[in-house]
Amino acid sequence: MTFPNRRLSIAPMLDYTDRHDRYFLRMLSKHILLYTEMIPANALVHADPEPFLRHDVSEHPVVIQLGGSDPQVLAEASKKAEDAGYCQINLNCGCPSDRVQNGAFGACMMKNANHVADCIAAMKNAVHVPVTVKCRIGVDHDDSWEFFLNFIETVQKAGCEEFIVHARKAWLKGLSPKENREVPPLDYERVLQLKKLHQELTISINGGIKTLEQTKEFLKDLDGVMIGREAYENSWFLNAADAEIFGDNHAVWKSQKELLEAYLPYVAREQTAGCPLTILTRHLSKLFTGFPGARKYRQTLSEEAPKAKDAVSLIRHAMEFVSET
Ligand SMILES: Cc1cc2nc3c(=O)[nH]c(=O)nc-3n(C[C@H](O)[C@H](O)[C@H](O)COP(=O)(O)O)c2cc1C
Repeated sequence: MTFPNRRLSIAPMLDYTDRHDRYFLRMLSKHILLYTEMIPANALVHADPEPFLRHDVSEHPVVIQLGGSDPQVLAEASKKAEDAGYCQINLNCGCPSDRVQNGAFGACMMKNANHVADCIAAMKNAVHVPVTVKCRIGVDHDDSWEFFLNFIETVQKAGCEEFIVHARKAWLKGLSPKENREVPPLDYERVLQLKKLHQELTISINGGIKTLEQTKEFLKDLDGVMIGREAYENSWFLNAADAEIFGDNHAVWKSQKELLEAYLPYVAREQTAGCPLTILTRHLSKLFTGFPGARKYRQTLSEEAPKAKDAVSLIRHAMEFVSET
């Protein structure tokens, strides 16, 4: 298994970072750490786990993120994920959606640090790979430094040595998940303060980070930077990540078109395996943003994918509208 280097990771994003998106992102960078979307632990334990665990070997290193709050179910799910080859298991303690709250997991778990500690202890007991936590800096009115520190230290005592902190709190009632990624203000200082106090912990920062420049700046003080939306809206910036962040100056793609052409054999393979075209093309729609013809490219993909017969021809046809010069 490849040793995971978390200097730059791509955030778990439901309906975004599926295995096709991850395959594509891996073509842009050999070194970024990838995360799955959040996968409910219950689904791995009580349903056929194969569709949830499926991934391509080239995606490695890839972390699985689990959602759940039953220690035994999380432990069993972790074991299945480890057996499937995931290099770390991450527990979601940051998602504020109603669906997640109804299952009593995600961000609401921050209110009960002892219970999260029980979950981590059970998961760690079941696997050899690291078990990590992705959390917020607070929830609702529990947003003091003391609350955050108590959460981290309680979970640390259960054996968690690595945290990814989305540097804003979550409001569990009244804000949609989208608003919860925008409205509560970012407080990077709190994450930096945590690292200063707990040098022994591995700490990554997340929230509103969009460039490799910002990433390098945070890496002076922290172990890792996690980028979410920008990796979906503007994935091309990752073409420079291996050189800029990991010091690996291998040859990179000369253009988006060259990258997309190289991706087409994967698209053909997955279509033959039965994957719908809409799923195979949705993460490609923003690739040419800013170029003449980008809009027509995007429209062609989104309008024709539901009815097209051949994904490769569709993508090539859409690409013809774009002028890269
Ligand atoms: C569409 C979407 C889906 C998301 N799904 C998840 C998820 O499954 N698990 C999770 O921990 N966070 C999820 N997030 C939150 C991101 O992981 C990240 O914490 C957040 O977007 C802030 O980072 P950013 O400002 O770089 O986007 C999601 C975000 C978006 C935009």
